[in-house]
Amino acid sequence: MSKQNFSRRNFIGLSSFAGIGLALSSHPLEAGTLSGTNAKKFKMGLIGCGNRSKTLIDALNSVPDIELTALCDSLPHKMAQRAKLIKTGVKPKFVNSFSELLNMNELDAICVVTPNDTHKGIVIAALEAGKHVFCEKPMALTVSDCNEMIAATERTGKALQIGTQRRHSGVYKNLVEIVRTKPVGTILQSSLFDFRGDWRVPEADEYLAGVKYWRLDQRRSGGVVYEMGNHIIDVNNWVFDSEPVSVCSMQGVNNFTLRKRDSSDHSGVLVYYANGALMNYGGNVYNYGSVALDTFFFTGGTVQIGNGSINVGYGSPAGFPKPADLPKPEKLSMSGNNPEGDGVVEQFKHFALVMEGKEKSYPDGYIARQAVQIMEGSVRSAIARRVIDVRELG
Ligand SMILES: NC(=O)c1ccc[n+]([C@@H]2O[C@H](COP(=O)([O-])OP(=O)(O)OC[C@H]3O[C@@H](n4cnc5c(N)ncnc54)[C@H](O)[C@@H]3O)[C@@H](O)[C@H]2O)c1
Repeated sequence: MSKQNFSRRNFIGLSSFAGIGLALSSHPLEAGTLSGTNAKKFKMGLIGCGNRSKTLIDALNSVPDIELTALCDSLPHKMAQRAKLIKTGVKPKFVNSFSELLNMNELDAICVVTPNDTHKGIVIAALEAGKHVFCEKPMALTVSDCNEMIAATERTGKALQIGTQRRHSGVYKNLVEIVRTKPVGTILQSSLFDFRGDWRVPEADEYLAGVKYWRLDQRRSGGVVYEMGNHIIDVNNWVFDSEPVSVCSMQGVNNFTLRKRDSSDHSGVLVYYANGALMNYGGNVYNYGSVALDTFFFTGGTVQIGNGSINVGYGSPAGFPKPADLPKPEKLSMSGNNPEGDGVVEQFKHFALVMEGKEKSYPDGYIARQAVQIMEGSVRSAIARRVIDVRELG
């Protein structure tokens, strides 16, 4: 571990940092019809018109039953930029404040696309205002925040769905179908690795002014495991079909060229599950783009996903008798080569069915909380330098 790894002081306040800046700039209202399409069933307001909202707005254009009718952001120009991406229905209203968004009676749902530390406060306020909520991953930074969010859905009877879109991706549904139906045996272990290299270091003037991009702030983003690992950790929970029990991790800031940050830039995480299987996750944010395959080891086979295909191999360890009918290895093309893009439209189509009362939220708060158990456990383990029992997290 490098000298830049987290101190306890850095971590204190992670959960209490969930306060939200609700005072937003004012902006003139927009009105009028865009393409004259028939009214959709559900009206949604989106808060957080940053980078991720581009993908979500693009996806919502293809969802017949949800209409984005309001946008909210602390930065007025972001609302104006994102409004241009909405292709159907009425022109969205730009609202002055989050509380104004929640007061819009015509809205059935709120889509939360703000930084990680704001999710809990915004989601609970939206549920309390009688809105269904779609919230981007991670659900929250701590398990206790997740518990409060789940309690709010139960109290209000409103739906909460979390944006780990791989649950709706053809690629990952295919992976889970394979591990459930092919004769690979019982899950033993996984080896997962992901990376990216585009987290922005603040521009020179921002840095001098003390403005820190939220992803570079440990207490706002949770670091590399929350921002990147959340997706594959969620898939691992799905594949393993078991509960995480204990978590052990080392992580911190190591890349000296990315020093203008205190959120972890690399991590190694080991998780022991109730069924005895072991997850081994690693991630970094300083890679330039080489390929990493995710591998799942079973008693009678190995399944690998990545680089455009899912490979399934069958066999027993040396010295064990090989079944006479051992299947040949299989290489299955992934239905898409972009796991992040895949599943985004489908997650909103599912959310529309949830609002209609025809489906349950998926993934819901309980599923999403399992990933937070691992992510929070990993940060606490790295700080305390010991194994964390997930029951400690509430
Ligand atoms: N599912 C995925 O694959 C995926 C991909 C990228 C990001 N995300 C998640 O989406 C969220 C947003 O990420 P991003 O990359 O768009 O970040 P971003 O910084 O580009 O955008 C965040 C936006 O929220 C606005 N904002 C912040 N606080 C606000 C508040 N209190 N009220 C109103 N507006 C506020 C900011 O002005 C900014 O425009 C994060 O939680 C991130 O983890 C998910």
